[in-house]
Amino acid sequence: MSEKVTIAFDVYGTLINTHGLIGMLQRHVGDNAAPFSKLWREKQLEYSFRRGLMQKYLNFGVCTAQALDYAALSFGVALTEQEKEELLIAYKALPAFDDVKRGLEEAKDAGFRLYAFSNGKASDIELLLDRAGIGGYFLDIISVDEVHSFKPDPAVYRHFLDRASAQAEKSWLVSANPFDVIGARAAEMQAIWLQRFPDLVMDPWEIKPTLIINTIESVAESITGWHQA
Ligand code: LAC
Repeated sequence: MSEKVTIAFDVYGTLINTHGLIGMLQRHVGDNAAPFSKLWREKQLEYSFRRGLMQKYLNFGVCTAQALDYAALSFGVALTEQEKEELLIAYKALPAFDDVKRGLEEAKDAGFRLYAFSNGKASDIELLLDRAGIGGYFLDIISVDEVHSFKPDPAVYRHFLDRASAQAEKSWLVSANPFDVIGARAAEMQAIWLQRFPDLVMDPWEIKPTLIINTIESVAESITGWHQA
């Protein structure tokens, strides 16, 4: 078991901008690109929640593809199989947010054990992180696919701790997704909510983030400060 602090970085929406395809979407839905992208992401996550609860697991790539179909039907857009394939291939090469490289460098320099921790299949995440230029910062990629469930199932956080040989109380999830932060805290991990924009709201639950930050660049100093308090 490691005595060092371990950090699980969520990927989609935290390290990687899931709205990085707005330009491609504009070709198909014009000014509706942003609401289309929002519905696509919301439905992708909803499908993961439903499949976890139903115990009808299919990987996150299937949730992403079926959510794209839903969004196209909702906006009355007839995408050809080729157009859908192009969008799903582009989804495997989304950009990292601007603050990520520096934030990961600082966390690595601080001596923390860094992992990427995602609903996505490990092979998809490896490709995604490498193409975004941030693949080299992590000790490993840990995917919920290894236990055939999805966040926020407590089993996936327990799986992370097991695979990372880490103790819950010395492990931090960093995520922009409130459901993920609450899930990690419910599994006894520490959790940072990355509130990138002031109008984003954390669910008003009895389960709270350990810390709230506005940029990945604050991760190292925030965690260091918390452990020194
Ligand atoms: C992930 C999604 C849920 O990367 O953000 O796990």
